[in-house]
Amino acid sequence: MAYEFDGKKYKEASAHQKEWGAKLIQELPVSGTERILDLGCGDGALTSQLAALVTPHGSVVGIDASHGMIETAKAYQTENLSFDVRDINELNFENEFDIIFSNAALHWIKNHEVLLEKVFRALKRGGILRFNFAGDGNCANFFSVVKEAIKQPRFASYFSDFEWPWYMPTIEEYEQLVLSIPFTESRVWSENADRFFADAETMTKWIDQPSLVPFMKLLPDEHKEDFRQFVIGRMIHKTCQADGRCFETFRRINVLAKK
Ligand SMILES: C[S@@+](CC[C@H](N)C(=O)[O-])C[C@H]1O[C@@H](n2cnc3c(N)ncnc32)[C@H](O)[C@@H]1O
Repeated sequence: MAYEFDGKKYKEASAHQKEWGAKLIQELPVSGTERILDLGCGDGALTSQLAALVTPHGSVVGIDASHGMIETAKAYQTENLSFDVRDINELNFENEFDIIFSNAALHWIKNHEVLLEKVFRALKRGGILRFNFAGDGNCANFFSVVKEAIKQPRFASYFSDFEWPWYMPTIEEYEQLVLSIPFTESRVWSENADRFFADAETMTKWIDQPSLVPFMKLLPDEHKEDFRQFVIGRMIHKTCQADGRCFETFRRINVLAKK
Protein backbone atom coordinates (compact mmCIF):
# COMPACT_ATOMS: atom_id res chain seq x y z
CA MET A 1 0.00 0.00 0.00
CA ALA A 2 1.34 3.44 -0.91
CA TYR A 3 0.30 6.72 0.73
CA GLU A 4 -0.25 10.27 -0.43
CA PHE A 5 2.00 12.93 1.09
CA ASP A 6 2.08 16.71 0.92
CA GLY A 7 5.40 17.38 -0.80
CA LYS A 8 5.56 21.04 0.24
CA LYS A 9 4.91 20.29 3.92
CA TYR A 10 7.36 17.38 3.80
CA LYS A 11 10.04 19.70 2.41
CA GLU A 12 9.67 21.89 5.51
CA ALA A 13 9.53 18.96 7.93
CA SER A 14 12.42 16.84 6.69
CA ALA A 15 15.62 18.52 7.88
CA HIS A 16 16.86 15.27 9.43
CA GLN A 17 16.14 13.12 6.36
CA LYS A 18 17.96 15.71 4.25
CA GLU A 19 20.98 15.69 6.58
CA TRP A 20 21.30 11.88 6.42
CA GLY A 21 20.80 11.86 2.65
CA ALA A 22 23.34 14.62 1.96
CA LYS A 23 25.97 12.63 3.90
CA LEU A 24 25.20 9.52 1.84
CA ILE A 25 25.48 11.48 -1.39
CA GLN A 26 28.83 13.03 -0.39
CA GLU A 27 30.24 9.54 0.16
CA LEU A 28 29.00 8.04 -3.14
CA PRO A 29 31.75 6.93 -5.50
CA VAL A 30 30.70 8.89 -8.60
CA SER A 31 32.75 9.60 -11.74
CA GLY A 32 30.15 11.85 -13.38
CA THR A 33 28.82 9.59 -16.15
CA GLU A 34 26.51 7.38 -14.11
CA ARG A 35 22.82 6.67 -14.57
CA ILE A 36 21.25 6.81 -11.10
CA LEU A 37 17.85 5.72 -9.74
CA ASP A 38 16.50 7.29 -6.52
CA LEU A 39 13.87 5.05 -4.87
CA GLY A 40 11.24 6.95 -2.86
CA CYS A 41 12.68 10.30 -3.95
CA GLY A 42 10.04 12.32 -2.07
CA ASP A 43 10.23 16.08 -2.73
CA GLY A 44 13.25 15.60 -5.04
CA ALA A 45 15.70 17.76 -3.08
CA LEU A 46 18.22 14.92 -2.64
CA THR A 47 17.60 13.64 -6.18
CA SER A 48 18.66 17.05 -7.49
CA GLN A 49 21.87 16.80 -5.42
CA LEU A 50 22.52 13.44 -7.11
CA ALA A 51 21.93 15.05 -10.51
CA ALA A 52 24.43 17.81 -9.74
CA LEU A 53 27.10 15.10 -9.31
CA VAL A 54 26.56 13.66 -12.79
CA THR A 55 25.71 16.75 -14.86
CA PRO A 56 26.21 16.96 -17.82
CA HIS A 57 27.30 13.41 -18.70
CA GLY A 58 25.11 11.23 -16.46
CA SER A 59 21.41 11.16 -15.63
CA VAL A 60 19.09 10.60 -12.68
CA VAL A 61 15.53 9.29 -12.32
CA GLY A 62 13.57 9.76 -9.11
CA ILE A 63 10.52 7.59 -8.48
CA ASP A 64 7.90 7.89 -5.78
CA ALA A 65 4.39 6.51 -5.34
CA SER A 66 3.00 9.81 -4.02
CA HIS A 67 1.62 12.28 -6.60
CA GLY A 68 1.98 15.08 -4.02
CA MET A 69 5.71 14.36 -3.64
CA ILE A 70 6.37 14.05 -7.39
CA GLU A 71 4.46 17.26 -8.09
CA THR A 72 6.83 19.08 -5.71
CA ALA A 73 9.89 17.22 -7.05
CA LYS A 74 9.16 18.25 -10.64
CA ALA A 75 10.31 21.79 -9.82
CA TYR A 76 13.86 20.36 -9.94
CA GLN A 77 13.40 18.62 -13.30
CA THR A 78 16.15 19.27 -15.90
CA GLU A 79 17.37 17.64 -19.09
CA ASN A 80 19.11 14.85 -17.18
CA LEU A 81 16.86 14.70 -14.09
CA SER A 82 13.35 13.28 -14.36
CA PHE A 83 10.68 12.16 -11.90
CA ASP A 84 7.98 9.50 -12.19
CA VAL A 85 5.03 8.47 -10.08
CA ARG A 86 5.84 4.80 -9.65
CA ASP A 87 5.51 2.20 -6.90
CA ILE A 88 8.85 0.75 -5.78
CA ASN A 89 7.10 -2.62 -5.52
CA GLU A 90 6.51 -2.49 -9.29
CA LEU A 91 10.16 -1.91 -10.21
CA ASN A 92 10.93 -3.63 -13.53
CA PHE A 93 14.21 -2.29 -14.90
CA GLU A 94 16.89 -4.55 -16.39
CA ASN A 95 20.64 -3.74 -16.35
CA GLU A 96 19.94 -0.04 -16.49
CA PHE A 97 21.52 1.75 -13.52
CA ASP A 98 25.06 2.30 -12.25
CA ILE A 99 23.77 3.42 -8.84
CA ILE A 100 20.48 2.73 -7.06
CA PHE A 101 20.11 5.10 -4.14
CA SER A 102 17.45 5.35 -1.47
CA ASN A 103 17.25 7.54 1.61
CA ALA A 104 14.63 7.29 4.37
CA ALA A 105 12.11 5.47 2.18
CA LEU A 106 12.54 1.69 2.14
CA HIS A 107 11.00 1.05 5.57
CA TRP A 108 7.73 1.67 3.68
CA ILE A 109 8.39 -1.47 1.59
CA LYS A 110 7.29 -4.71 3.24
CA ASN A 111 8.95 -7.39 1.12
CA HIS A 112 12.68 -6.70 0.88
CA GLU A 113 13.51 -10.10 -0.55
CA VAL A 114 11.59 -9.14 -3.69
CA LEU A 115 12.91 -5.57 -3.53
CA LEU A 116 16.55 -6.71 -3.43
CA GLU A 117 15.98 -9.12 -6.31
CA LYS A 118 14.44 -6.33 -8.39
CA VAL A 119 17.21 -3.88 -7.50
CA PHE A 120 19.83 -6.49 -8.42
CA ARG A 121 18.14 -6.96 -11.80
CA ALA A 122 17.93 -3.20 -12.39
CA LEU A 123 21.67 -2.66 -11.75
CA LYS A 124 24.31 -2.95 -14.45
CA ARG A 125 27.19 -5.33 -13.74
CA GLY A 126 29.52 -3.47 -11.37
CA GLY A 127 26.68 -1.14 -10.34
CA ILE A 128 26.08 -0.37 -6.67
CA LEU A 129 23.13 0.07 -4.37
CA ARG A 130 23.27 2.49 -1.44
CA PHE A 131 20.35 2.45 0.99
CA ASN A 132 19.69 4.13 4.30
CA PHE A 133 16.34 3.34 5.93
CA ALA A 134 14.82 2.81 9.37
CA GLY A 135 15.68 -0.31 11.38
CA ASP A 136 14.65 -1.95 14.63
CA GLY A 137 14.30 0.54 17.51
CA ASN A 138 13.40 3.48 15.26
CA CYS A 139 10.87 6.06 16.53
CA ALA A 140 10.28 4.22 19.81
CA ASN A 141 8.36 7.13 21.34
CA PHE A 142 6.10 7.85 18.36
CA PHE A 143 5.28 4.16 17.91
CA SER A 144 4.32 3.66 21.56
CA VAL A 145 2.12 6.79 21.48
CA VAL A 146 0.41 5.97 18.20
CA LYS A 147 -0.23 2.36 19.32
CA GLU A 148 -1.90 3.80 22.42
CA ALA A 149 -3.95 6.18 20.24
CA ILE A 150 -5.35 3.51 17.92
CA LYS A 151 -6.57 1.54 20.97
CA GLN A 152 -8.62 4.45 22.35
CA PRO A 153 -12.32 3.47 22.32
CA ARG A 154 -13.29 6.45 20.13
CA PHE A 155 -10.73 5.54 17.45
CA ALA A 156 -10.34 1.74 17.73
CA SER A 157 -13.09 0.71 15.31
CA TYR A 158 -11.36 2.56 12.42
CA PHE A 159 -8.21 0.52 12.94
CA SER A 160 -9.72 -2.99 13.20
CA ASP A 161 -8.13 -4.01 9.83
CA PHE A 162 -5.11 -1.76 10.17
CA GLU A 163 -1.88 -3.16 8.82
CA TRP A 164 1.29 -1.69 10.39
CA PRO A 165 2.80 0.31 7.53
CA TRP A 166 6.51 -0.14 8.18
CA TYR A 167 9.19 -2.84 7.97
CA MET A 168 12.10 -2.06 10.30
CA PRO A 169 14.30 -5.15 10.58
CA THR A 170 17.27 -5.90 12.82
CA ILE A 171 20.73 -5.67 11.30
CA GLU A 172 21.18 -9.44 11.58
CA GLU A 173 17.93 -10.10 9.67
CA TYR A 174 18.87 -7.65 6.93
CA GLU A 175 22.41 -8.99 6.61
CA GLN A 176 20.97 -12.44 5.92
CA LEU A 177 18.61 -11.04 3.27
CA VAL A 178 21.40 -9.18 1.46
CA LEU A 179 23.61 -12.28 1.57
CA SER A 180 20.87 -14.29 -0.18
CA ILE A 181 21.28 -12.09 -3.32
CA PRO A 182 24.35 -12.74 -5.52
CA PHE A 183 26.07 -9.37 -5.01
CA THR A 184 29.84 -9.56 -5.49
CA GLU A 185 30.39 -7.42 -2.36
CA SER A 186 28.05 -6.19 0.35
CA ARG A 187 28.10 -4.44 3.69
CA VAL A 188 25.20 -3.82 6.08
CA TRP A 189 25.67 -1.66 9.18
CA SER A 190 23.60 0.11 11.79
CA GLU A 191 23.64 3.75 12.77
CA ASN A 192 22.25 5.49 15.82
CA ALA A 193 20.85 8.80 14.52
CA ASP A 194 18.79 9.68 17.63
CA ARG A 195 17.82 13.29 17.52
CA PHE A 196 16.56 16.30 19.43
CA PHE A 197 14.03 18.37 17.50
CA ALA A 198 14.66 22.08 18.18
CA ASP A 199 11.19 22.50 19.72
CA ALA A 200 7.68 21.04 19.86
CA GLU A 201 6.64 22.86 16.68
CA THR A 202 9.45 21.27 14.68
CA MET A 203 8.58 17.84 16.05
CA THR A 204 4.90 18.42 15.26
CA LYS A 205 5.74 19.11 11.60
CA TRP A 206 7.53 15.75 11.43
CA ILE A 207 4.58 14.03 13.17
CA ASP A 208 2.21 15.51 10.54
CA GLN A 209 4.35 14.72 7.48
CA PRO A 210 5.11 11.90 7.09
CA SER A 211 4.52 10.03 10.36
CA LEU A 212 0.75 10.39 10.88
CA VAL A 213 -0.23 9.97 7.23
CA PRO A 214 -1.09 6.21 7.36
CA PHE A 215 -3.33 6.77 10.40
CA MET A 216 -5.14 9.85 9.14
CA LYS A 217 -6.10 8.00 5.99
CA LEU A 218 -8.35 5.65 7.98
CA LEU A 219 -10.09 8.24 10.15
CA PRO A 220 -13.27 10.08 9.15
CA ASP A 221 -12.85 13.87 8.96
CA GLU A 222 -14.62 14.49 12.28
CA HIS A 223 -12.01 12.42 14.18
CA LYS A 224 -8.83 13.45 12.39
CA GLU A 225 -7.99 16.53 14.48
CA ASP A 226 -8.88 14.81 17.76
CA PHE A 227 -6.55 11.88 16.91
CA ARG A 228 -3.78 14.26 15.83
CA GLN A 229 -4.06 16.29 19.05
CA PHE A 230 -3.99 13.10 21.14
CA VAL A 231 -0.73 12.00 19.51
CA ILE A 232 0.92 15.43 19.55
CA GLY A 233 -0.08 16.05 23.18
CA ARG A 234 1.28 12.68 24.35
CA MET A 235 4.47 13.11 22.31
CA ILE A 236 5.17 16.55 23.78
CA HIS A 237 4.56 15.22 27.29
CA LYS A 238 6.74 12.15 26.73
CA THR A 239 9.68 13.59 24.77
CA CYS A 240 10.05 17.35 25.34
CA GLN A 241 12.71 18.45 27.86
CA ALA A 242 12.94 21.46 30.15
CA ASP A 243 14.96 23.34 27.48
CA GLY A 244 12.10 22.87 24.98
CA ARG A 245 13.86 20.33 22.75
CA CYS A 246 12.06 17.05 21.98
CA PHE A 247 13.79 13.68 21.67
CA GLU A 248 13.17 10.73 19.35
CA THR A 249 15.11 7.57 18.52
CA PHE A 250 16.21 7.25 14.90
CA ARG A 251 17.93 3.91 14.19
CA ARG A 252 19.13 3.40 10.66
CA ILE A 253 20.18 0.49 8.47
CA ASN A 254 22.87 1.26 5.91
CA VAL A 255 23.47 -0.98 2.93
CA LEU A 256 26.20 -0.81 0.31
CA ALA A 257 26.36 -3.63 -2.24
CA LYS A 258 27.90 -4.19 -5.66
CA LYS A 259 26.55 -6.36 -8.50
C1 LIG B 1 10.37 10.02 4.31
S1 LIG B 1 10.14 10.16 2.59
C2 LIG B 1 11.82 10.23 1.99
C3 LIG B 1 11.93 11.10 0.78
C4 LIG B 1 13.36 11.38 0.30
N1 LIG B 1 14.04 10.18 -0.12
C5 LIG B 1 14.14 12.09 1.37
O1 LIG B 1 15.08 11.48 1.92
O2 LIG B 1 13.82 13.24 1.69
C6 LIG B 1 9.61 8.52 2.11
C7 LIG B 1 9.14 8.46 0.67
O3 LIG B 1 8.95 7.11 0.29
C8 LIG B 1 7.85 7.09 -0.61
N2 LIG B 1 7.28 5.75 -0.69
C9 LIG B 1 6.72 5.02 0.29
N3 LIG B 1 6.26 3.85 -0.19
C10 LIG B 1 6.54 3.84 -1.53
C11 LIG B 1 6.33 2.93 -2.58
N4 LIG B 1 5.73 1.75 -2.37
N5 LIG B 1 6.74 3.25 -3.82
C12 LIG B 1 7.34 4.46 -4.06
N6 LIG B 1 7.58 5.37 -3.11
C13 LIG B 1 7.18 5.08 -1.85
C14 LIG B 1 6.87 8.06 0.01
O4 LIG B 1 5.87 8.47 -0.91
C15 LIG B 1 7.79 9.16 0.48
O5 LIG B 1 7.94 10.15 -0.51
